[in-house]
Amino acid sequence: MKAVIFDLDGVITDTAEYHFLAWKHIAQQIDIPFDRRMNERLKGISREESLESLLISGGAETWYTNAEKQELMHQKNHYYQTLIRKLTPEDLLPGIGRLLCELKNEHIKIGLASSSRNAPEILKRLAIIDDFHAIVDPAALANGKPDPEIFLTAAALLDVSPADCAAIEDAEAGISAIKSAGMFAVGVGHEQSMIGADLIVRHTCDLTLELLKEEWERYRKKV
Ligand code: BG6
Ligand code: MG
Repeated sequence: MKAVIFDLDGVITDTAEYHFLAWKHIAQQIDIPFDRRMNERLKGISREESLESLLISGGAETWYTNAEKQELMHQKNHYYQTLIRKLTPEDLLPGIGRLLCELKNEHIKIGLASSSRNAPEILKRLAIIDDFHAIVDPAALANGKPDPEIFLTAAALLDVSPADCAAIEDAEAGISAIKSAGMFAVGVGHEQSMIGADLIVRHTCDLTLELLKEEWERYRKKV
């Protein structure tokens, strides 16, 4: 294992909850139902795809012009940005700070593969941006998760072969992307949402370098 590539929202910090709150705010405004179960489908996918999915689930896919959709996304992001402004280094999810230290101590490269255009701002607020050797710009990609492009780009930026990378995700689309990239997939969350992951942990505090290495060895013997 020469590199570990992280998803951001829901893995490094609990901004998955802020995305939910921001979409809920928009859904209430346009009077369509939206709950946590529907939100699961939005995890890991872009702002544009999230809005489409939200509108389709509410039977509202033909209600808005492209300009109005842009305005809805702008409002969602504006609301979301008011929430992330409160982030401090205290908002790292449990165990993530320790894992980053362990990786640095062992000279394992660290990458970020987040679909969020707000990612650099969040890493700065968490005071961990300097720990990352590569941060993929999602705006420069042709395809979002579950396409493997974002993870393959991270590996290329880190100058590490995909087969030598582990990647950590909390979304179904992300796990599919990692597996399509030929990497060791670590899922954080419920087993039923992490289908295909090579290692599943319930909480980020369970993510230690020792566990990753152990499971990595087991996985490498199988493939
Ligand atoms: C992903 C989140 O990390 O980023 C998605 O899981 C979100 O919920 C996507 O839609 C895009 O984020 P942003 O900040 O660019 O709107
Ligand atoms: Mg996520």
